[in-house]
Amino acid sequence: MTDTQKTAQLSLNGETYELPIFSPTAGPDVLDIRKLYAQAGVFTYDPGFTSTASCDSTITYIDGNEGILLHRGYPIDQLAGKSHYLEVCYLLLYGELPTATQLEDFETRVTRHTMVHEQMHNFFRGFRRDAHPMATMVGVVGAMSAFYHDSTDIADPWQREVAAIRLIAKLPTIAAMAYKYSIGQPFVYPRNDLDYAANFLNMCFSVPAEDYVVDPILARAMDRIFTLHADHEQNASTSTVRLASSSGANPFACVAAGIACLWGPAHGGANQACLEMLKEIGSVDRIPEYLERAKDKNDPFRLMGFGHRVYKNTDPRAKVLKQSADEVLELLGVEDNPLLQVAKELEQTALNDPYFIEKKLFPNVDFYSGIILEAMGFPTSMFTPIFALSRTVGWVSQWKEMIGDPQNKIGRPRQLYLGETTRDYVDIENR
Ligand code: SDX
Repeated sequence: MTDTQKTAQLSLNGETYELPIFSPTAGPDVLDIRKLYAQAGVFTYDPGFTSTASCDSTITYIDGNEGILLHRGYPIDQLAGKSHYLEVCYLLLYGELPTATQLEDFETRVTRHTMVHEQMHNFFRGFRRDAHPMATMVGVVGAMSAFYHDSTDIADPWQREVAAIRLIAKLPTIAAMAYKYSIGQPFVYPRNDLDYAANFLNMCFSVPAEDYVVDPILARAMDRIFTLHADHEQNASTSTVRLASSSGANPFACVAAGIACLWGPAHGGANQACLEMLKEIGSVDRIPEYLERAKDKNDPFRLMGFGHRVYKNTDPRAKVLKQSADEVLELLGVEDNPLLQVAKELEQTALNDPYFIEKKLFPNVDFYSGIILEAMGFPTSMFTPIFALSRTVGWVSQWKEMIGDPQNKIGRPRQLYLGETTRDYVDIENR
């Protein structure tokens, strides 16, 4: 952390407290309030953490006003256009773009960890076939800690490294197994001759009864979707993984907690909710009705795929996904997909609506991703599992950074207590 000469003064109850100010390499200064309670006897109050930095990090930087997203300093649009997912995984995990030798070694290590313990197949049998794939993923990923005991000692850097590789390698296999189980088809084993994205498509869409050739264009689109979802600073699911990990819990259990948090429709579940919303709207002439509902405070309806806690300008990932949607749908011969027309018209109408302009609501990563995934053949129930497998590298990279930080301590927020003060128990006959 950068040394600081700057301080802020807090005047409280006739006392003045000096709060150190730390300046980042990018973004706003932070006030160091770690000693505030000990010195001034007060807490800060910030439900939803709208103005709170929970940690320092060197992995991802977001500028919400400028619509900037950097991974280790590299802009997301350059990574999406020039790199590929496993290279971005290396960058997030180790901080630099790999040499050709480093990349080959990393890809080989990931490839050789894509199979899951055969006994894990039995876990799926306990679920109903119509269980949401996110439910099975939470269960099976958490159960990884019952199998991979040789990579659960987080004090051992080598075991941390193995756990990170195992999670990045096995999440696509588990997500594909969750999908196959939900449609009553047999599990498809990973193949070492396929790259990461092609392997996932093969595990999802191939069947034993016939050969399946992965379309390289779909594999490229899949890889780009993985890359665009890889990491995103201290979002809710990443913060969940960090908080769970701060107690010393094993990485598999902590990533399962992150998957559970991502499932919510306000977070990673928005891609499924957004496509369902576009289907409900159905045609461009119904857009005004839904925009009015989104603005009505008495109506819980929100425009899914719109708005963001940090981006108050365009989400740079949405821009890349919008381009990909045009490319993929055209290549698939469904460029006149009515949902894409509704999405584009909805975006334009909302961006010119005073309410959305005033609230600074723009399309986010979830607005176009569902259109691409549905065109690729995935059911809406697989959209968030794909987000989860993509984000696993972000979760484990942030986890490694935190566990490796000597300042790391258990996360334990306080509260503004508004409940009853001490009172005596009343026997039931006197109530
Ligand atoms: C992701 O954090 C991340 O980085 C997340 C993520 C990642 O990569 O990890 O980017 C992935 O989760 C993207 C977000 C996906 N969620 C959705 O698309 C769901 C729809 N969006 C909203 O639920 C909302 O915009 C949030 C949850 C995303 C952000 O909520 P905030 O920051 O808490 O903002 P808010 O709810 O306080 O909204 C501010 C105002 C409110 O109106 P007022 O109370 O000020 O009058 O804007 C309104 C909201 O009612 N508003 C919306 C809206 N989003 C916010 N109104 C209509 N439609 C919307 N989508």
